[in-house]
Amino acid sequence: MSANTLRIAALAGDGIGPEVMREALKVLRAATQAHALRLEATEAPVGWAGIDAAGKALPDATLELCRRSDAILFGSVGLPDRDPTLPKEERPERAALLRIRKEFGLFANLRPVQLPRALAHGCPLKPERQGDGIDILVVRELTGGLYFGQPKRTEDIVLPDGTKAQRATDTLVYTTPEIERIAHVAFQSARLRRRKVTSIDKANVLENGVLWRDTVTRVGRGYADVALEHMFVDNAAMQFLLRPTQFDVVLCENMFGDILSDEAAALGGSLGMLPSASLGATAEGRTFGFYEPAGGTAPDIAGKDLANPIAQVLSAALMLRHSFGRDDVARAIEQGVARAIDAGLRTGDIFHPGDPGARRVGTREMGDAIAAAVG
Ligand code: IPM
Ligand code: MG
Repeated sequence: MSANTLRIAALAGDGIGPEVMREALKVLRAATQAHALRLEATEAPVGWAGIDAAGKALPDATLELCRRSDAILFGSVGLPDRDPTLPKEERPERAALLRIRKEFGLFANLRPVQLPRALAHGCPLKPERQGDGIDILVVRELTGGLYFGQPKRTEDIVLPDGTKAQRATDTLVYTTPEIERIAHVAFQSARLRRRKVTSIDKANVLENGVLWRDTVTRVGRGYADVALEHMFVDNAAMQFLLRPTQFDVVLCENMFGDILSDEAAALGGSLGMLPSASLGATAEGRTFGFYEPAGGTAPDIAGKDLANPIAQVLSAALMLRHSFGRDDVARAIEQGVARAIDAGLRTGDIFHPGDPGARRVGTREMGDAIAAAVG
């Protein structure tokens, strides 16, 4: 990688993916030009777009492109209503998304949730529960647990009373090195923030929860400057609603992180605002990463210029920060987003009629405004 060239794979995918990707690339082009960087973004199909173009959710050429790139900027994949006869192993969620996570060893998923002051009324919680603002980083383990545990199967069985039934098995497996490496990511992230990690588990019931808690505690001893607390996942789900300001970094295994990050996103006003970074190990100072909005394909609003491109744009900012070491350019993009919001621009998901000065805009206009603010 030449330090001044961003060689990325841009995989827009399905639903609103192409629209929000177009805006993110527009913003990236403006930001890279303003900082004398070269953007080499190659687009390729993935998801149903991959199935339509090449018969597979992750076409070979797309995977090759990812291997040749320094980072992947991803839209979203999966259209639940399309072709219910396609086996689940071939559907985009598993065949593209989970495959890429595993293939590139993207074990660390970072989902930063912030409630901008200007959008405080979009938060479903009463103002007194929002304190001075919500600012949570969910650190989710992404390549283990129930998503990838073996065995994983459905079988026909006969119950003790002789009736036939089917049984589905998913196994929750973690090894200590898997827990250790994600715990390090959480503690290191906390050092750049408010120095607190809340580790989530179900240690009162699950063996995995006990191992998780013990391992995180042990790793935490190496970070004396970071406060560590443990919380059962059911309590955490409740605390997110009662007192979200108590959280800084929230460390979770894969499935708990999936659930809690959607809950956290709602606190931030909209799923359309939540970016994510999925990172592998850092080698020679470089971190290969995969950057995607945490929301889905939103097929109901696709193609209508209604989607909020901010999650995709902020994902591009995370890419600059984590894969290209350009915190300055990442900040410029984040400030561009803040400026568009401060100027009153709102896509439908963050628009509230009672908000003075707010103006409802489409995907494209929001992207134009952010690009203008960073360029
Ligand atoms: C997410 C999504 C995915 C997940 C789905 C689409 C497989 O919900 O990234 O949070 O469960 O990981
Ligand atoms: Mg999810």
